[in-house]
Amino acid sequence: MEISGKTKVFCVIGDPIEHSLSPIMHNAAFRHLKIDAVYLAFKVGAKMLEDAVKGIRSFGIYGVNVTTPHKTAITNYIDESDSVVKFVGAVNTVLNSEGNLVGFNTDGIGALRALEENGVKTKGKKFLLLGAGGAGRAIAFQLAQEADELVILNRDVAKARLLADALRKRFNKEIFADSPSRDVLKNWIGNVDVLINATSVGMHPNEEQTPVEKGLLKPELTVMDIVYNPIETRLLKDAKSIGAKVIYGTEMLVFQGAASFEIWFKRPAPVKVMREAIFEKLQTGGLSLGR
Ligand code: ATR
Repeated sequence: MEISGKTKVFCVIGDPIEHSLSPIMHNAAFRHLKIDAVYLAFKVGAKMLEDAVKGIRSFGIYGVNVTTPHKTAITNYIDESDSVVKFVGAVNTVLNSEGNLVGFNTDGIGALRALEENGVKTKGKKFLLLGAGGAGRAIAFQLAQEADELVILNRDVAKARLLADALRKRFNKEIFADSPSRDVLKNWIGNVDVLINATSVGMHPNEEQTPVEKGLLKPELTVMDIVYNPIETRLLKDAKSIGAKVIYGTEMLVFQGAASFEIWFKRPAPVKVMREAIFEKLQTGGLSLGR
């Protein structure tokens, strides 16, 4: 697609941003659907966020993804937020609707779609969620509406408790919170169907780390990791080796991106094309499935 005066501009803002896979994924989608648009990455330091948002308005940038360190701070500069953002306090997608900047958070929807598209129904299932940071809160918000039971474990247990209290009030459902000690993990893993790691444990360069030791996993579990670098984390490797079903972090990456695309274009995202684009990039970038 030739870039012209009519080409719509999209971008991701964050710092660091050089390794973001969003430009790869969205430009592949634009090319595939012959949409006259381009998606760029802008390195925006913490102090420049307010100016960057002015730039989004003045340049008429159509859609923006927001990543570290701006996901929370950007709520101060946009015009509207959807219900997920209001609860989670973090934005990863902005729609510029004729100058009105609307914030969304697609992390939770992305995680749920990753589960569903990989054959895991959320309704009626018991979930153990590790992590109560930005991504953890977004995932918990979706799970609390769908799951039969939700347990949230976080190193900083006060964060897990605050989150569980807020969800309990909002959805009138029993939601448990605790710290991820060995005994607590052992007890809950014995009781749940799906384990989701929404912490950064195991992420490059700490590939040898895992949030749950192998001996505590069971073959009946589905294990999903939101970490995608490496694609196959130690947690997923361990889970796979004992016969558990695994869902890679790349799935959540693809589906949160697909949800952003669908907010901007109000049409289904070409998920397969987006997935292929990031896999190709990750594999040529030296990341592997560990097989
Ligand atoms: P994100 O937006 O990716 O969720 P975040 O908000 O910084 O990032 O959250 C990171 C999550 O990983 C938190 O749940 C954090 O636990 P704390 O709230 O206790 O900090 C968790 N995390 C990061 N490093 C960890 C570690 N070494 N051990 C256990 N949990 C860790």
